Amino acid sequence: MTARIIDGKAVAAELRAAVAGRVATLGYRPGLVVVLVGDDPASAVYVRNKDRAAHGAGFESRTIRLPAATSEAELLAVIAGLNDDPQTDGILVQLPLPRHIATAAIIRAIDPAKDVDGFHPENVAALALGAPRLVPCTPRGVMRLLEVSGTPVAGRRAVVLGRSNIVGRPMAALLLSADATVTIAHSRTRDIAAECRRAEILIAAVGRAEMVKAEWIGPGSTVIDVGINRTEAGTLVGDVDYQAAREVAGAITPVPGGVGPMTIACLLENTLDAAIARRS
Ligand code: GUN
Repeated sequence: MTARIIDGKAVAAELRAAVAGRVATLGYRPGLVVVLVGDDPASAVYVRNKDRAAHGAGFESRTIRLPAATSEAELLAVIAGLNDDPQTDGILVQLPLPRHIATAAIIRAIDPAKDVDGFHPENVAALALGAPRLVPCTPRGVMRLLEVSGTPVAGRRAVVLGRSNIVGRPMAALLLSADATVTIAHSRTRDIAAECRRAEILIAAVGRAEMVKAEWIGPGSTVIDVGINRTEAGTLVGDVDYQAAREVAGAITPVPGGVGPMTIACLLENTLDAAIARRS
């Protein structure tokens, strides 16, 4: 049996259209500001895509591009200005930041009510306490894919591979809130293949090209591949060996066209949520 393909591109398009429809009824344009420091080419592509999607949904969106030599104090001043700006509903500082800037200090400086990445400690705490406010975009997108693909979560064994602040940890918290039995597997996990194989839902978020082999996958399980890795040949692959995994899994997301488009759609959803919460 080959796995059902979960079409993230289609789900994301529907979600973006739904957000655009809601924005059109607001009477104002929610404001999203993306801050990009330096000239990392991958970040530049992500930021451009976020800006384009935001405009497409009827948002007021702009990108502040700062040179790589920007100091932490200068970046903090930019954030303070955005915190005070009533037209700005969402602030996203693209990561990674140049090494001389303390990422944690920058994230802490963002008004939690405008933190559309969901990275501020107040938002992280709210999620950990089971009362989520603004939730990180990629895990939010994964939960939506599980929902629309008809994958039951409550009571199921979910394994999250990876423990990053951006994906792994918030992903585990969301799955736990949805009543899954959650395991986080990582580089120090003993017999990682066996842990993954027990999963009825496997979320791969390690950032290592095709690390998850067919033998790591439970027959009939739902596999969500968060990885976006560029091979030496220049093609994009996920964290899962997709062609082999398709023969074992029950449902699987492709790369590209799976989780990636959902992240941006959920950023729009977060920005809309932030705007409504702030302005009502
Ligand atoms: N870099 C990679 N993923 C993300 C993300 O979700 N948000 C931000 N701000 N930067 C990122």
